Amino acid sequence: MHGDKKFIRNIRRDYLKDDLLEKDISSDPVKQFGKWFHEALESELVDGNAMTLVTVSGNRPSARIVLLKSFNENGFEFFTNYGSQKARDIEKNPEGCLLFYWAEFERQIRINGLLEKITREESAEYFSQRPRDSQIGAHASRQSEMLASRQELESRYKTLQEQFEGKDVPCPDFWGGYVLVPDYFEFWQGRPNRLHDRIVYTLKDGAWLVSRLFP
Ligand SMILES: Cc1cc2nc3c(=O)[nH]c(=O)nc-3n(C[C@H](O)[C@H](O)[C@H](O)COP(=O)(O)O)c2cc1C
Repeated sequence: MHGDKKFIRNIRRDYLKDDLLEKDISSDPVKQFGKWFHEALESELVDGNAMTLVTVSGNRPSARIVLLKSFNENGFEFFTNYGSQKARDIEKNPEGCLLFYWAEFERQIRINGLLEKITREESAEYFSQRPRDSQIGAHASRQSEMLASRQELESRYKTLQEQFEGKDVPCPDFWGGYVLVPDYFEFWQGRPNRLHDRIVYTLKDGAWLVSRLFP
């Protein structure tokens, strides 16, 4: 039985694929992220750009997957509904945490920072490139609000399809991007005997300091 405690406790593997040594890493964590991200996407992992986003509401954290849509020295961007649970969390507390796990590479990356909305123009620009069905889907969703039935959602979608027939679908006011501006990175590379590599970048006076943590 897969739910059996003994069975679950015996699930483990050795991590043998790679190492992460100070001599090989970039002094810029965004570049180091770019290297690992590129390797993940090159190997055509399923949802290689999926990341767990953690926000905090009061004392209560919540986590969900979102898709990374761009990154550079200014931060890590994703798109969502500005009325969602995560958006409500961010409004009160902009602290956020991103987590990537690429099992095939035995790699994890944790990034902390502050979340900010991107500009309306940037959101509208990306929205205009999305498939029409997803654009209408965004209009149809009051993300994270209570929904009476599946049918209600589908009929909202159908009504909007008719409403926008023959027209461009505008970016809704309640939809757009966030950028997480990082101040902490942690790169984890699985190693044999649980002696994993953990390399951390912290910001000190505008410069990135590199250190290593016990696994
Ligand atoms: C693979 C995957 C990708 C997703 N991408 C996004 C995304 O880019 N933006 C988004 O708002 N939700 C995305 N979701 C849905 C979220 O995980 C979540 O259910 C939704 O955003 C509502 O979260 P909230 O109630 O915490 O705000 C994705 C889910 C999965 C499993």
